[in-house]
Amino acid sequence: MLLLISVTLTVGVSLGAPTEEIACDPPYIPNGNYSPQRTKYRLENVITYQCKNGFSPATRGNTVRCTSVGWEPRPRCTFQPCAFPEIKHGSLHNENRYKPYFPAAVGKWYYYSCNDNFVTHSRSFWDHITCTREGWSPAVPCRRRCLFRYVVHGYTPSSEEYHKDYFQGDTVRVECHPGYSLPNEQTSMTCTENGWSPPPTCIPVKYCGMPVFENATAVITGARFRVNDTLDYKCLDGYENQDGKSTASMVCGEDGWTHLPTCYKSTDMCGRPPSISNGDITSFLLAVYPPGSRIEYQCQAYYQLRGSKYVTCNEGTWSEPPKCMDPCVISEQSMNKNNIQLKGKEDKTYYAKTGDLIEFVCKSGHTAATSQQTFQAVCQEGVVEYPRCE
Ligand SMILES: *[C@@H]1O[C@H](CO)[C@@H](O)[C@H](O)[C@H]1NC(C)=O
Ligand SMILES: *[C@@H]1O[C@H](CO)[C@@H](O)[C@H](O)[C@H]1NC(C)=O
Repeated sequence: MLLLISVTLTVGVSLGAPTEEIACDPPYIPNGNYSPQRTKYRLENVITYQCKNGFSPATRGNTVRCTSVGWEPRPRCTFQPCAFPEIKHGSLHNENRYKPYFPAAVGKWYYYSCNDNFVTHSRSFWDHITCTREGWSPAVPCRRRCLFRYVVHGYTPSSEEYHKDYFQGDTVRVECHPGYSLPNEQTSMTCTENGWSPPPTCIPVKYCGMPVFENATAVITGARFRVNDTLDYKCLDGYENQDGKSTASMVCGEDGWTHLPTCYKSTDMCGRPPSISNGDITSFLLAVYPPGSRIEYQCQAYYQLRGSKYVTCNEGTWSEPPKCMDPCVISEQSMNKNNIQLKGKEDKTYYAKTGDLIEFVCKSGHTAATSQQTFQAVCQEGVVEYPRCE
């Protein structure tokens, strides 16, 4: 059977290809693969092939046909590492005409030019990029050109600098007027893809002066401090700062010192403010408080605050804290006992603060057994006198 086929094949080819004959072996395509895959192909069979990354079909299109003389056109992957070059800040000469022919093979080269403020590698208007095994060369075809014409709040560049062209990556020193500097005290700027960085603008340098020390001394001395510099200070003996410590640091901020070297006599400092029944302090509790500190209290719900709601630290002691007065609880049980109810209120139980007026009426079918005034009771520190109906 096998013998028969091979005989027929030989005959078929030499006689000029009856269509049903087996005519082609599977193709050998280095750096590529194809489909459909078979052990033998007949005349007129078509395969489609793909090339791996960096390679492209050397034929027009990627389908080939089995003919009496083999695969036509011959499937082949050629090394074409260069895709259409997207030239940043520039373009290829006649790029629309060339575009369909990419990717390109090693050794191919093309003319290109750059946009305004950008220059080619040779700095002439036209230059060329070449496809290499590593891709396009040069890798950055268009580089920024920067001009150095002026410095805001600084010295004008020298005539030589003024007329010089600077290119991406170049650095130039900038001289600022006294009291000014480039941001972050930089002394030079660099030509980048987006122009000078930082821009040629000097900004005022901020300093913090030596503060006046009253109850403290500076640990290090110096006259001027720049933003973010710290100054350590020590309180005099018998003095402490607002956190109860004898040494601390200040930081020079954009708007001056973050805080001043304030130290107080230790005997003037207050400890924790007094706690009160049924009330709380509205702020976060600290261990120590400097003189003049003021703390606010508040009473729990229905408790009535009596006195000042603030206490103040003075010469090491807190002023008198407020009291929270008990509320009155008007219960349904007490009202039923006296045949009364709350006037105009549906509530069964009612809380009143000290000093609140509570109005009662007789339940229907009952008449007052106590004076008219007793029906307008006042809550007195938890106690209320009920009127009575019969
Ligand atoms: C100060 O420090 C802050 C935070 O670390 C920083 O963002 C800022 O740039 C610094 N300022 C100066 C002038 O060094
Ligand atoms: C110095 O200490 C006194 C006494 O505690 C205080 O009244 C005063 O405010 C303190 N001054 C400074 C600048 O810390």
